[in-house]
Amino acid sequence: MAKALVSGYHHLTLSTDGAQEDFDFYTKTLGLYSIKRTVLFDGTIPVYHLYYGSKSGDASTIITTFPFRKPAIYGRRGTNQSRTIMQSIPVGSSDYWVDRLNGKGIPAQKTSRFGLTRVVFAHPCGIPHELVENPADTRLPIVNPAQGTTEQTAIRGIYGGGIAVFDLDSMNEFIEGGVGLTLEASSDEGRMYSVPDNLGPHSVVEILEDRTSKQGTWMLAGGTIHHLALNTGNEENQYALKARLEGMGFTDVSEQKDRNYFKSMYVRSPGGALFEIAWTVPEGWAKDEAPDAIGKSLVFPPWFEDRRAELMQGLEEAAFQ
Ligand SMILES: [Fe+2]
Repeated sequence: MAKALVSGYHHLTLSTDGAQEDFDFYTKTLGLYSIKRTVLFDGTIPVYHLYYGSKSGDASTIITTFPFRKPAIYGRRGTNQSRTIMQSIPVGSSDYWVDRLNGKGIPAQKTSRFGLTRVVFAHPCGIPHELVENPADTRLPIVNPAQGTTEQTAIRGIYGGGIAVFDLDSMNEFIEGGVGLTLEASSDEGRMYSVPDNLGPHSVVEILEDRTSKQGTWMLAGGTIHHLALNTGNEENQYALKARLEGMGFTDVSEQKDRNYFKSMYVRSPGGALFEIAWTVPEGWAKDEAPDAIGKSLVFPPWFEDRRAELMQGLEEAAFQ
């Protein structure tokens, strides 16, 4: 068994459609908090980068999005690509969520996979989402009174990412010997791996077979999941994991990228999904906003100050309220 160099998820990142629609979905429909509003750091196209999660933006609760409506760049959901965003909810709250989502015009239904009850629905841009009743999850629910969620119903954080693959075996070495996840279940539905976690069994990666869809796009493009980010907790573990993966022959682990609030590396997995390994810098979200007011304003990293006017001009208009 490879030494655990990750502890749970850091965040999940997807490319969506409209900025206001995305904000409304995660804050008003799902009851998460806005924890940062900035822009895409890579490339030159002005696109928002929106972050949602617990009120203080704890790793393992964070969903981040790039709303691509204005540049009108859209992708194709398919196989060999991350498919499903999964978040954890308290046991017994599925019916509440089915009613809440349907009441907001989002078709939702209960189902079960790997023995766990789930609510299946989609983001307005089409990306599949699931709320999963995970009895092993001890994280405090992210109660948001303004949005009507309670201790009994609120999302606890990330449950995991579901990855569609053409070949179920393609991820074995990368997932187990590389990243260090543990196979927990295997069925005709696919495979379920637990993510090592210092704080308890909170999250998984699910590998789901799809031999019929076309290849999903890997670029940043609306309507698709871009990557799944695991938390290394610190820089030492991040470099050790990079070295382990490179030693196995996965030599495309990127250099470390400065994401202002955290430091990231990226690696493409054999099943097509892009993984990130990240750790939060000590200042975290309070680096450029007051700790009790994170996610309330539009902020740019210091190295983008000279682009502020151009970015403001190019960004989609949205009230974020
Ligand atoms: Fe990321």
